[in-house]
Amino acid sequence: MTTKYELKNTQTGKATLLDAMSGTIGPDVINIAPLLKEQGVFTFDPGFMATASTESKITYIDGDAGLLLYRGYPVEQLAEKSTFLEVANLLVYGTLPTKPQLDAFCSSITRHTMINEQLLRFFQGFHHNAHPMAKVAAVVASMAAFYHDSTDINDPRHREIFAHRIIAKLPTIAAAAYKHSLGQPFVYPRNDLRYCTNMLNMFFAVPCEPYAIDPIAAEALDLLFILHADHEQNASTSTVRLAGSTGANPYAAISAGVSALWGPAHGGANEAVLDMLEGIGSAANIDAFLARVKDKHANVRLMGFGHRVYKNFDPRAKIIRGMCYRVLEKLGRTESPLFELALRLEEIALKDEYFVSRKLYPNVDFYSGIIYSALGIPRSMFTVMFAIARTAGWVAHWQEMVSDPHMRIGRPRQLYTGPVKRDYVPIDGR
Ligand code: SDX
Repeated sequence: MTTKYELKNTQTGKATLLDAMSGTIGPDVINIAPLLKEQGVFTFDPGFMATASTESKITYIDGDAGLLLYRGYPVEQLAEKSTFLEVANLLVYGTLPTKPQLDAFCSSITRHTMINEQLLRFFQGFHHNAHPMAKVAAVVASMAAFYHDSTDINDPRHREIFAHRIIAKLPTIAAAAYKHSLGQPFVYPRNDLRYCTNMLNMFFAVPCEPYAIDPIAAEALDLLFILHADHEQNASTSTVRLAGSTGANPYAAISAGVSALWGPAHGGANEAVLDMLEGIGSAANIDAFLARVKDKHANVRLMGFGHRVYKNFDPRAKIIRGMCYRVLEKLGRTESPLFELALRLEEIALKDEYFVSRKLYPNVDFYSGIIYSALGIPRSMFTVMFAIARTAGWVAHWQEMVSDPHMRIGRPRQLYTGPVKRDYVPIDGR
């Protein structure tokens, strides 16, 4: 029996019955399509606070319970038992791969890690201190210039090749952006190295001496990538879907996602958290800083705190906080003043009525930068790391949307409050 909702114009008495639709878990949605035709009205929901933009089978979040499922699997279990490429395969294909399937996937990814030599030349055009996210967004978009002949988005094989290429090449592009900022030579990917190990080698190896890859660093990166791989219809994923809904080149759609992720309200928060902690300096300054956060005129936010969906702990933040202890200890970093400061800041904020009343908890970005820093990754590269991981989710959502025969171009409406129709006035009459 379908639940129906009645919407009634209390002035005219005209009522419209709207069908509810149920998912496998989570809130029902109301199909509002009849509203415009029957009532002549739009719904209004800036920021999409209570609007489902699509149906999806990929990721589910319960913000009150602090639950995050990738294709039904709790992120805690995947963090403990899986690898990033296995999670990427799960997100894209929908089920946990068999060993032959995973081996084939990893082998394909490995063989797509090189980028066209012409693409490497793009980096020479950037200023040496250009923000890495600007470089990565630009070069990912430029991939559309190299692969415009193999992206018939209606061809499942073309879609699969795109998925493997972009997941494989993001670390190579990221490493090239980093090496360019250092003025160091680009280090090519190696087919004998696993995904995260390969990336660390491209980041930190130099031609003049052997580079010993730290397995702890590779393991920590792999876990961080699992935790950042997907997150429902977040701003950057919604951007990829909207760009992709026009039939745009998929590399251009992913580049749009990279750009959206860059904002400090989204993936750029991990970089902003470290800037914030450095600005606070010591625990003695926490109270004064939080006073500024609570002063609306100061326009200061506790970066890495709060979330549109989580009104409880972000499960990823809990895992990353635990990782900080393990990684820092394994790396012999007994001293980490910024980590100590972050822990103290969290402890004080979670007892403060301002944050408690607004259900503001640490999110995925609050602690991730502590680990990236411990691995020697510079702050300006933190959001690039997020983009590498989230590419798996972006690809999965793009595939889900483009392979849907009922896909329609996304085109929201608006509440217009501008001038009514008026006639042009010649300049000498103004
Ligand atoms: C990510 O969507 C996703 O899933 C994103 C993500 C993913 O994996 O894709 O999880 C990744 O982007 C995590 C979020 C990273 N961003 C930050 O850490 C930046 C700091 N946080 C925020 O600016 C904010 O919390 C958002 C953007 C994350 C959520 O904003 P909302 O849901 O629009 O909430 P809001 O801005 O309307 O805030 C509600 C209230 C306001 O106060 P009042 O007007 O009610 O008095 O809470 C306050 C806000 O001022 N508030 C904060 C705050 N976040 C919200 N006050 C101080 N510090 C903060 N961080």
